[in-house]
Amino acid sequence: MRSSTFCRLASGIVGISCLSNLALAASTSDWKSRTVYQTMTDRFSRTDGSTTFPCNTTEGLYCGGTWQGTIDKLDYIQGMGFDAIMISPIIENVEGHVKYGEAYHGYWPLDLYSLNSHFGTEQDLLDLSKEVHDRGMYLMMDTVINNMAYMTNGSYPGTNIDYSVFTPFDNSKYFHPYCLISDWNNFTDAQLCQTGDNYTALPDLFTEHTDVQSLLINWTTTTMAKYSIDGLRIDAAKSVTPSFLRKYNDDLGVFMTGEVMQQEISTICDYQRDYIGSLPNYPIYYSMLKAFTLGNTTDLANSVDLMKAACPDITALVSFSENHDVERFPSFVDDISLAKNVLTFTLLYDGVPFIYQGQEQHFKGANTPANRQALWLSGYKTDAELYSLITKLNKIRKQAVRLDSSYVDQQTTNIYLGGSELGFSKGVEGKQTIMLLSTQGTNSQPYDVILQGTYNAGMAVTEVIYCSNYTVDAYGSLRVGMESGLPRVFFPTRLMEGSGLCGYSSANLTYAELRTGQSGSQQKSLGVGSNQLREQTIAFALLLALISLIVV
Ligand SMILES: *[C@@H]1O[C@H](CO)[C@@H](O)[C@H](O)[C@H]1NC(C)=O
Ligand SMILES: *[C@@H]1O[C@H](CO)[C@@H](O)[C@H](O)[C@H]1NC(C)=O
Ligand SMILES: *[C@@H]1O[C@H](CO)[C@@H](O)[C@H](O)[C@H]1NC(C)=O
Ligand SMILES: *[C@@H]1O[C@H](CO)[C@@H](O)[C@H](O)[C@H]1NC(C)=O
Ligand SMILES: *[C@@H]1O[C@H](CO)[C@@H](O)[C@H](O)[C@H]1NC(C)=O
Ligand SMILES: *[C@@H]1O[C@H](CO)[C@@H](O)[C@H](O)[C@H]1NC(C)=O
Ligand SMILES: *[C@@H]1O[C@H](CO)[C@@H](O)[C@H](O)[C@H]1NC(C)=O
Ligand SMILES: *[C@@H]1O[C@H](CO)[C@@H](O)[C@H](O)[C@H]1NC(C)=O
Repeated sequence: MRSSTFCRLASGIVGISCLSNLALAASTSDWKSRTVYQTMTDRFSRTDGSTTFPCNTTEGLYCGGTWQGTIDKLDYIQGMGFDAIMISPIIENVEGHVKYGEAYHGYWPLDLYSLNSHFGTEQDLLDLSKEVHDRGMYLMMDTVINNMAYMTNGSYPGTNIDYSVFTPFDNSKYFHPYCLISDWNNFTDAQLCQTGDNYTALPDLFTEHTDVQSLLINWTTTTMAKYSIDGLRIDAAKSVTPSFLRKYNDDLGVFMTGEVMQQEISTICDYQRDYIGSLPNYPIYYSMLKAFTLGNTTDLANSVDLMKAACPDITALVSFSENHDVERFPSFVDDISLAKNVLTFTLLYDGVPFIYQGQEQHFKGANTPANRQALWLSGYKTDAELYSLITKLNKIRKQAVRLDSSYVDQQTTNIYLGGSELGFSKGVEGKQTIMLLSTQGTNSQPYDVILQGTYNAGMAVTEVIYCSNYTVDAYGSLRVGMESGLPRVFFPTRLMEGSGLCGYSSANLTYAELRTGQSGSQQKSLGVGSNQLREQTIAFALLLALISLIVV
């Protein structure tokens, strides 16, 4: 359901006018067919286009990335096939620095009603939004609703915070009393206390308070409308009062994915069931690490099965293998083949894939802040090996969606578990993608794996990364040549036309066009029409309900 539906229905039926032209934010189902490139605005691209401007991650200072710089590098993002981007929190942050730096990341809010001027002006952000949407892409905003920030610079936060500096939460009554989180495994503690320290306090918003709730919801609605934001990442969702998280999720009615950095499957699935529609898939992330750094294939295969059983909708979670809070994969094992397997799984497994800036350039930074290198120092190489792999994976995912819009709702199944290989299938029989991954790394010698339960006997299939042809034998098995620990991805050869891969033409459709299975220009007009139709249908149903109430 889109955020403004109710407003427009209300104005349609009752004739009242709504306050503002609220944005048509995208639904979960809209987001499922997309893939997202996560930028960190300060570290992504500068207005001057510099590829040499120094940026020392250890110092933690602003390095000069801007919204205008982001606009200038949308070709780079779209060139990989992404059709959504996420940007850092946009609001004004605390100025000044403490021993570990400044608010370059955007997670130290000061004033909800002003923008972070380091990133640009209101017009710059409007321009970014317009440019993103003109390209048929979605815009996701990273969002802090758990806390504000206050620099105490060495002194104890309990007695040294001046609450009057915050907008709009200019009084201690809007905050939980000061306490430091002592036990992260105690969720109550994590929700009532603060994540900050004696240098930067993160005063914890009293989100049980109805004034705090309506101010946050109002701010979000207004901001999403003004900048046409299509979805949200909720920072520190684990620290937000759960009942408010649910209210926020339900009242806004837009796609939002909430950060709960927990390994337990039950925690993540319970959150999805009870509080928020989507979360980054941390359990699978940790299992993926076990597979590709320790060679434990069983754990990942098990997690894939267990999550299907435990989560209400695993295909609405966010699939990722790097982000600004975790060590980059190559910091664990610097092996290009393993990095390729990890990317393949991230993009072709269930959920909305997020790729964090720099992963395509094989950046190696470990813990925060080392994982926040300025992307411009890579020179934005579009011939980088992983850039090219991501491009191919986005193409095959898009092709699978184009041919079957239910593809993204299908859950991944395990089809092969070896001592160092994992095979997965996604999609309906005859149109599925199949990946065969290896945990052996670059030094692996050539050998064959025989897959059962793939496609029908005799079918011609294409390995889409290296463009070789295979045939399923008369007994239904597929003999796959493995080499140098590289991943293999299969798709039926007869369905390759339109994929833009291996010499086949490209259908050039946007994901929006793909979703109803219509072709190009025809669908462009239908897109809006079908939405209106849906709203009219809902309006009619509501009207009937209203009438029946009156009659009774
Ligand atoms: C980055 O800053 C740290 C702390 O000031 C310093 O120790 C380090 O040498 C700097 N690194 C580079 C590459 O300049
Ligand atoms: C914190 O203290 C350091 C060292 O005295 C100083 O350089 C810095 O400007 C102070 N920051 C703030 C926000 O007062
Ligand atoms: C913060 O300050 C308080 C009060 O001075 C002190 O007890 C505590 O140990 C400090 N915390 C850290 C992490 O230094
Ligand atoms: C968890 O944290 C809350 C709030 O800090 C505290 O009252 C409670 O005793 C803690 N529970 C346990 C089991 O430690
Ligand atoms: C939202 O906030 C704006 C600006 O503060 C205010 O004008 C408006 O009335 C608020 N809307 C609601 C629905 O609270
Ligand atoms: C793999 O991980 C699982 C836990 O999920 C563990 O039980 C098993 O012993 C591990 N296998 C190896 C070979 O380390
Ligand atoms: C794979 O099969 C397709 C379709 O039959 C053919 O056009 C293509 O040349 C083959 N590619 C290779 C590398 O043999
Ligand atoms: C898709 O776009 C490419 C590059 O712009 C073009 O060469 C190709 O002909 C287009 N394919 C179709 C089917 O329109």
